[in-house]
Amino acid sequence: MTPTPSPVHNSPTMSTDTSTSAHLPIGVFDSGVGGLTVLRALRRAMPNENFLYLGDTARLPYGTKSGATVARYALQTTRVLVDIGVKMLVVACNTASSVAMPGLSEAYPGLPCTGVIEPGAAAACEAAPRGRIAVIATGGTVRGAAYQGAILRRRPEATIATRPAQLFVALAEEGWTDGQVVTDIARRYLDPLMAEFPEGGPDCLVLGCTHFPVLAQAIQAVLPQGVCLIDSAETTARWVAEELGARGLLRPEAGAPRSVKESVRFFATDDPERFARVGEIFLGEPLSPSDVTLVDL
Ligand code: DGL
Repeated sequence: MTPTPSPVHNSPTMSTDTSTSAHLPIGVFDSGVGGLTVLRALRRAMPNENFLYLGDTARLPYGTKSGATVARYALQTTRVLVDIGVKMLVVACNTASSVAMPGLSEAYPGLPCTGVIEPGAAAACEAAPRGRIAVIATGGTVRGAAYQGAILRRRPEATIATRPAQLFVALAEEGWTDGQVVTDIARRYLDPLMAEFPEGGPDCLVLGCTHFPVLAQAIQAVLPQGVCLIDSAETTARWVAEELGARGLLRPEAGAPRSVKESVRFFATDDPERFARVGEIFLGEPLSPSDVTLVDL
Protein backbone atom coordinates (compact mmCIF):
# COMPACT_ATOMS: atom_id res chain seq x y z
CA MET A 1 0.00 0.00 0.00
CA THR A 2 1.16 3.57 -0.70
CA PRO A 3 1.23 6.13 2.14
CA THR A 4 -2.15 7.67 2.98
CA PRO A 5 -2.54 11.19 1.64
CA SER A 6 -3.28 13.92 4.19
CA PRO A 7 -7.03 14.06 4.72
CA VAL A 8 -7.41 17.66 5.68
CA HIS A 9 -6.83 20.65 3.47
CA ASN A 10 -4.96 23.70 4.73
CA SER A 11 -2.63 21.72 6.95
CA PRO A 12 -0.72 24.70 8.43
CA THR A 13 -1.95 25.64 11.89
CA MET A 14 -4.61 28.32 11.90
CA SER A 15 -3.43 31.84 12.56
CA THR A 16 -6.41 32.53 14.87
CA ASP A 17 -6.15 32.32 18.69
CA THR A 18 -6.94 28.67 19.44
CA SER A 19 -8.38 29.32 22.93
CA THR A 20 -11.13 31.38 21.27
CA SER A 21 -11.44 29.19 18.18
CA ALA A 22 -12.04 26.03 20.24
CA HIS A 23 -15.41 27.44 21.28
CA LEU A 24 -16.53 28.06 17.71
CA PRO A 25 -18.86 25.56 16.00
CA ILE A 26 -17.91 23.18 13.21
CA GLY A 27 -19.52 24.16 9.88
CA VAL A 28 -21.14 21.42 7.79
CA PHE A 29 -22.92 21.73 4.46
CA ASP A 30 -24.61 19.64 1.78
CA SER A 31 -26.99 20.24 -1.10
CA GLY A 32 -29.84 19.09 1.16
CA VAL A 33 -30.50 16.74 4.03
CA GLY A 34 -28.00 14.03 2.98
CA GLY A 35 -25.16 15.63 4.95
CA LEU A 36 -27.19 15.08 8.12
CA THR A 37 -25.91 11.48 8.00
CA VAL A 38 -22.43 12.99 8.43
CA LEU A 39 -23.60 15.42 11.11
CA ARG A 40 -25.04 12.47 13.02
CA ALA A 41 -21.64 10.73 13.01
CA LEU A 42 -19.86 13.98 13.93
CA ARG A 43 -22.14 14.50 16.94
CA ARG A 44 -21.59 10.93 18.04
CA ALA A 45 -17.80 11.28 17.78
CA MET A 46 -17.70 14.75 19.39
CA PRO A 47 -20.66 15.17 21.77
CA ASN A 48 -19.23 18.37 23.24
CA GLU A 49 -19.01 20.24 19.95
CA ASN A 50 -21.40 22.78 18.50
CA PHE A 51 -22.33 22.71 14.80
CA LEU A 52 -23.79 24.84 12.05
CA TYR A 53 -25.48 22.83 9.29
CA LEU A 54 -26.54 24.35 5.99
CA GLY A 55 -28.65 22.44 3.44
CA ASP A 56 -28.80 24.19 0.07
CA THR A 57 -32.24 22.72 -0.60
CA ALA A 58 -33.29 25.47 -3.04
CA ARG A 59 -30.60 24.39 -5.51
CA LEU A 60 -30.59 20.62 -4.95
CA PRO A 61 -29.62 18.35 -6.66
CA TYR A 62 -25.95 19.20 -7.06
CA GLY A 63 -25.24 15.88 -8.75
CA THR A 64 -26.79 16.86 -12.07
CA LYS A 65 -25.01 20.24 -12.29
CA SER A 66 -21.65 21.08 -13.85
CA GLY A 67 -18.53 21.06 -11.68
CA ALA A 68 -18.12 24.83 -12.11
CA THR A 69 -21.65 25.48 -10.85
CA VAL A 70 -21.26 23.19 -7.84
CA ALA A 71 -17.89 24.77 -6.97
CA ARG A 72 -19.56 28.21 -7.04
CA TYR A 73 -22.44 26.99 -4.85
CA ALA A 74 -19.94 25.52 -2.38
CA LEU A 75 -18.19 28.89 -2.04
CA GLN A 76 -21.53 30.61 -1.41
CA THR A 77 -22.68 28.13 1.25
CA THR A 78 -19.28 28.26 2.95
CA ARG A 79 -19.39 32.05 3.07
CA VAL A 80 -22.59 31.94 5.16
CA LEU A 81 -20.96 29.55 7.65
CA VAL A 82 -17.67 31.45 7.80
CA ASP A 83 -19.46 34.77 8.32
CA ILE A 84 -21.21 33.35 11.38
CA GLY A 85 -17.89 31.85 12.56
CA VAL A 86 -16.61 28.26 12.33
CA LYS A 87 -13.35 26.61 13.37
CA MET A 88 -13.48 23.89 10.71
CA LEU A 89 -15.49 23.14 7.58
CA VAL A 90 -16.87 19.71 6.66
CA VAL A 91 -18.09 19.43 3.07
CA ALA A 92 -20.68 16.72 3.74
CA CYS A 93 -21.43 16.28 0.06
CA ASN A 94 -19.46 14.02 -2.26
CA THR A 95 -20.39 16.03 -5.33
CA ALA A 96 -19.05 19.25 -3.82
CA SER A 97 -16.06 17.40 -2.32
CA SER A 98 -15.12 16.19 -5.80
CA VAL A 99 -14.88 19.69 -7.34
CA ALA A 100 -14.80 22.40 -4.67
CA MET A 101 -11.91 21.66 -2.31
CA PRO A 102 -9.18 23.62 -4.17
CA GLY A 103 -11.42 26.71 -4.48
CA LEU A 104 -12.38 26.55 -0.81
CA SER A 105 -8.74 26.24 0.29
CA GLU A 106 -7.84 29.23 -1.85
CA ALA A 107 -10.73 31.35 -0.57
CA TYR A 108 -10.22 30.41 3.10
CA PRO A 109 -6.53 29.58 3.51
CA GLY A 110 -6.65 29.55 7.35
CA LEU A 111 -9.68 27.30 7.70
CA PRO A 112 -9.16 23.54 8.11
CA CYS A 113 -11.49 21.83 5.73
CA THR A 114 -12.31 18.23 4.81
CA GLY A 115 -14.58 16.62 2.26
CA VAL A 116 -16.02 13.10 2.42
CA ILE A 117 -14.35 11.44 -0.56
CA GLU A 118 -10.89 10.91 0.97
CA PRO A 119 -12.36 9.36 4.16
CA GLY A 120 -14.72 7.22 2.05
CA ALA A 121 -11.86 6.00 -0.13
CA ALA A 122 -9.73 5.21 2.94
CA ALA A 123 -12.57 3.22 4.52
CA ALA A 124 -13.17 1.33 1.26
CA CYS A 125 -9.49 0.38 0.93
CA GLU A 126 -9.51 -0.96 4.49
CA ALA A 127 -12.64 -3.02 3.79
CA ALA A 128 -11.42 -4.51 0.49
CA PRO A 129 -8.96 -7.38 1.06
CA ARG A 130 -8.91 -8.16 -2.69
CA GLY A 131 -8.99 -4.49 -3.71
CA ARG A 132 -12.29 -4.92 -5.55
CA ILE A 133 -14.33 -1.78 -4.98
CA ALA A 134 -17.67 -0.69 -6.46
CA VAL A 135 -18.88 2.89 -6.09
CA ILE A 136 -22.30 4.46 -6.56
CA ALA A 137 -22.56 8.23 -6.48
CA THR A 138 -24.20 11.18 -8.20
CA GLY A 139 -23.60 11.81 -11.90
CA GLY A 140 -21.27 14.70 -11.05
CA THR A 141 -19.12 12.67 -8.65
CA VAL A 142 -18.83 9.79 -11.12
CA ARG A 143 -17.93 12.16 -13.99
CA GLY A 144 -15.16 13.75 -11.92
CA ALA A 145 -13.65 10.30 -11.13
CA ALA A 146 -12.61 11.58 -7.68
CA TYR A 147 -13.15 8.18 -6.02
CA GLN A 148 -10.94 6.40 -8.53
CA GLY A 149 -8.19 8.94 -7.85
CA ALA A 150 -8.51 8.72 -4.06
CA ILE A 151 -8.65 4.90 -4.07
CA LEU A 152 -5.81 4.40 -6.55
CA ARG A 153 -3.51 6.70 -4.55
CA ARG A 154 -3.91 4.24 -1.67
CA ARG A 155 -4.30 0.98 -3.59
CA PRO A 156 -2.77 1.31 -7.09
CA GLU A 157 -3.71 -2.32 -7.85
CA ALA A 158 -7.42 -1.87 -7.02
CA THR A 159 -10.20 -2.87 -9.41
CA ILE A 160 -12.83 -0.14 -9.34
CA ALA A 161 -16.19 0.22 -11.07
CA THR A 162 -18.45 3.24 -10.59
CA ARG A 163 -22.02 4.00 -11.53
CA PRO A 164 -24.22 7.08 -11.16
CA ALA A 165 -27.38 6.46 -9.12
CA GLN A 166 -28.92 9.92 -9.15
CA LEU A 167 -32.50 8.74 -8.54
CA PHE A 168 -31.46 7.60 -5.07
CA VAL A 169 -31.05 11.29 -4.15
CA ALA A 170 -34.67 12.01 -5.11
CA LEU A 171 -35.91 8.93 -3.25
CA ALA A 172 -33.97 9.89 -0.13
CA GLU A 173 -35.14 13.53 -0.25
CA GLU A 174 -38.69 12.22 -0.60
CA GLY A 175 -38.19 10.03 2.48
CA TRP A 176 -38.83 6.86 0.41
CA THR A 177 -36.35 4.44 1.93
CA ASP A 178 -38.02 1.07 1.30
CA GLY A 179 -40.72 -0.67 -0.73
CA GLN A 180 -41.01 -2.05 -4.24
CA VAL A 181 -40.08 1.17 -6.08
CA VAL A 182 -36.85 1.48 -4.13
CA THR A 183 -36.00 -2.20 -4.66
CA ASP A 184 -36.66 -1.98 -8.42
CA ILE A 185 -34.48 1.12 -8.81
CA ALA A 186 -31.75 -0.43 -6.67
CA ARG A 187 -31.73 -3.55 -8.89
CA ARG A 188 -31.61 -1.46 -12.05
CA TYR A 189 -28.55 0.43 -10.82
CA LEU A 190 -26.75 -2.35 -9.00
CA ASP A 191 -27.22 -5.49 -11.11
CA PRO A 192 -25.08 -4.14 -14.00
CA LEU A 193 -22.52 -2.79 -11.53
CA MET A 194 -22.20 -6.17 -9.80
CA ALA A 195 -21.84 -7.82 -13.22
CA GLU A 196 -18.60 -5.87 -13.65
CA PHE A 197 -17.15 -8.06 -10.89
CA PRO A 198 -17.47 -11.64 -12.09
CA GLU A 199 -16.08 -14.30 -9.76
CA GLY A 200 -17.74 -13.35 -6.49
CA GLY A 201 -18.60 -9.66 -6.80
CA PRO A 202 -16.74 -6.73 -5.24
CA ASP A 203 -15.46 -6.67 -1.65
CA CYS A 204 -17.45 -3.56 -0.89
CA LEU A 205 -19.81 -0.98 -2.31
CA VAL A 206 -19.08 2.67 -1.48
CA LEU A 207 -22.16 4.81 -0.85
CA GLY A 208 -20.53 7.77 -2.58
CA CYS A 209 -23.30 10.23 -1.83
CA THR A 210 -24.33 11.33 1.64
CA HIS A 211 -28.00 10.82 0.72
CA PHE A 212 -27.54 7.10 0.18
CA PRO A 213 -27.02 5.73 3.75
CA VAL A 214 -30.75 6.06 4.50
CA LEU A 215 -31.32 3.56 1.66
CA ALA A 216 -28.67 1.17 3.00
CA GLN A 217 -31.06 -1.65 3.89
CA ALA A 218 -32.75 -1.63 0.47
CA ILE A 219 -29.37 -1.49 -1.26
CA GLN A 220 -27.87 -4.27 0.83
CA ALA A 221 -30.87 -6.48 0.09
CA VAL A 222 -30.14 -6.58 -3.66
CA LEU A 223 -26.38 -7.15 -3.34
CA PRO A 224 -24.67 -10.54 -3.51
CA GLN A 225 -23.84 -12.00 -0.08
CA GLY A 226 -20.64 -10.74 1.49
CA VAL A 227 -20.48 -7.30 -0.17
CA CYS A 228 -20.19 -4.74 2.62
CA LEU A 229 -21.42 -1.16 2.41
CA ILE A 230 -19.08 1.76 2.99
CA ASP A 231 -20.46 5.01 4.35
CA SER A 232 -17.82 7.72 4.74
CA ALA A 233 -19.59 9.41 7.68
CA GLU A 234 -17.85 7.52 10.52
CA THR A 235 -14.38 7.88 9.01
CA THR A 236 -14.97 11.57 8.29
CA ALA A 237 -16.04 12.13 11.90
CA ARG A 238 -12.93 10.37 13.19
CA TRP A 239 -10.66 12.45 10.96
CA VAL A 240 -12.31 15.70 12.05
CA ALA A 241 -11.92 14.77 15.73
CA GLU A 242 -8.24 13.91 15.18
CA GLU A 243 -7.58 17.11 13.24
CA LEU A 244 -9.23 19.34 15.83
CA GLY A 245 -7.39 17.47 18.59
CA ALA A 246 -4.04 17.92 16.85
CA ARG A 247 -4.68 21.66 16.52
CA GLY A 248 -5.86 22.04 20.14
CA LEU A 249 -9.26 23.07 18.82
CA LEU A 250 -11.56 20.58 20.53
CA ARG A 251 -14.18 22.27 22.69
CA PRO A 252 -13.36 21.82 26.38
CA GLU A 253 -15.42 19.18 28.24
CA ALA A 254 -18.86 20.61 28.88
CA GLY A 255 -20.59 17.97 31.01
CA ALA A 256 -23.59 15.91 29.93
CA PRO A 257 -24.17 15.23 26.20
CA ARG A 258 -26.31 17.97 24.72
CA SER A 259 -29.43 17.66 22.59
CA VAL A 260 -29.61 18.58 18.90
CA LYS A 261 -31.44 21.79 19.88
CA GLU A 262 -28.63 22.81 22.22
CA SER A 263 -25.74 22.02 19.93
CA VAL A 264 -26.78 22.51 16.28
CA ARG A 265 -28.06 25.52 14.34
CA PHE A 266 -29.72 24.49 11.08
CA PHE A 267 -30.02 26.60 7.94
CA ALA A 268 -31.79 25.78 4.68
CA THR A 269 -32.18 27.76 1.48
CA ASP A 270 -35.79 26.56 1.02
CA ASP A 271 -38.80 25.50 3.08
CA PRO A 272 -37.76 24.80 6.72
CA GLU A 273 -40.87 22.65 7.21
CA ARG A 274 -39.79 20.16 4.53
CA PHE A 275 -36.17 20.24 5.72
CA ALA A 276 -37.28 19.33 9.26
CA ARG A 277 -39.72 16.62 8.16
CA VAL A 278 -37.29 14.78 5.87
CA GLY A 279 -34.20 15.71 7.87
CA GLU A 280 -35.40 13.72 10.89
CA ILE A 281 -34.95 10.50 8.92
CA PHE A 282 -31.32 11.34 8.16
CA LEU A 283 -30.45 12.75 11.56
CA GLY A 284 -32.26 10.03 13.50
CA GLU A 285 -33.63 12.63 15.94
CA PRO A 286 -36.69 14.88 16.00
CA LEU A 287 -36.39 18.19 14.16
CA SER A 288 -38.95 20.95 14.13
CA PRO A 289 -39.32 23.70 11.48
CA SER A 290 -38.65 26.28 14.19
CA ASP A 291 -35.13 24.78 14.57
CA VAL A 292 -34.37 25.68 10.92
CA THR A 293 -33.53 29.19 9.70
CA LEU A 294 -34.24 30.10 6.10
CA VAL A 295 -31.23 31.76 4.41
CA ASP A 296 -30.76 33.32 1.00
CA LEU A 297 -27.39 32.87 -0.66
N1 DGL B 1 -25.52 14.51 -0.98
C1 DGL B 1 -24.76 14.94 -2.07
C2 DGL B 1 -23.56 14.04 -2.33
O1 DGL B 1 -23.02 13.47 -1.39
C3 DGL B 1 -25.42 15.47 -3.30
C4 DGL B 1 -26.70 14.95 -3.80
C5 DGL B 1 -27.24 15.87 -4.88
O2 DGL B 1 -27.55 17.02 -4.53
O3 DGL B 1 -27.30 15.45 -6.05
O4 DGL B 1 -23.10 13.93 -3.44
